[in-house]
Amino acid sequence: MKIVVTGATKGIGRAVTEVFAKNGFDIAICARDESDLEKLEGQLKYKFSNIEVIALAADMSIKADVLRFAETIKAKWETADVLVNNAGMFLPGNVTTEPDGTLEKLIETNLYSAYYLSREILPLLQANDRGHIFNISSVAGTKAYPNGGSYSISKFAMTGLSKALREELKSQNVRVTTVIPGAVLTASWEGVDLPKERFIDVEDLAQLIYDCYKVSYRTVVEDLVVRPMLGDL
Ligand SMILES: NC(=O)c1ccc[n+]([C@@H]2O[C@H](COP(=O)([O-])OP(=O)(O)OC[C@H]3O[C@@H](n4cnc5c(N)ncnc54)[C@H](OP(=O)(O)O)[C@@H]3O)[C@@H](O)[C@H]2O)c1
Repeated sequence: MKIVVTGATKGIGRAVTEVFAKNGFDIAICARDESDLEKLEGQLKYKFSNIEVIALAADMSIKADVLRFAETIKAKWETADVLVNNAGMFLPGNVTTEPDGTLEKLIETNLYSAYYLSREILPLLQANDRGHIFNISSVAGTKAYPNGGSYSISKFAMTGLSKALREELKSQNVRVTTVIPGAVLTASWEGVDLPKERFIDVEDLAQLIYDCYKVSYRTVVEDLVVRPMLGDL
């Protein structure tokens, strides 16, 4: 079994990578920081000695890097089982006051990354006769909130991409799940002075994603909505 995860060195991507690795999956991962990636590659190979790890430093907001990541995978794998479009960034702001270029940066990172990589990896999922795409959106992609600005716009777009893929791929045995988390305790929240109880546990979210994958092929979880027990921040 083989999984592709973008933005795998920290947070949600890392937790998802570890759950699937623990369950015997070969792993293809990327992030921008090469030394973080090398460290994770070493740790995965040490902890899970029987799995294959493909790791490439690549910036998913740049189309050429997305294509390079896909080519690196295709040079080694003819099939894949799971794609997790996770790489993303959060910039707080309001549409009317955020710096010029914020929308472009967030759309490139949070939307185009998933759009281009899904198109590239789909043939590997189809070659497998079944596959599963998880798109990591956000509650910010289902409702507007103060200081959400272009992040919210980019996540609404990600939700739209995910729903379009679900419609297109339902007859092709490729499941598509839109993952819609509230606040998850990851590096994105560094410096925020709130108790950890106000956040989703990242390992819970990763396990839920794995559980969605494990249901039978007669069934698909279309939307995985997960919130902190006390509700959104
Ligand atoms: N944390 C939350 O509360 C929350 C809630 C809802 C949705 N989400 C979504 O979940 C996803 C992951 O968030 P997170 O909180 O886990 O983030 P995180 O802890 O900041 O980790 C982000 C990961 O993605 C990589 N990354 C960032 N930009 C990238 C790029 N352009 N190309 C390739 N890799 C990139 C980072 O490594 P490098 O920096 O080395 O590239 C890192 O490995 C995002 O799409 C985010 O919008 C998060």
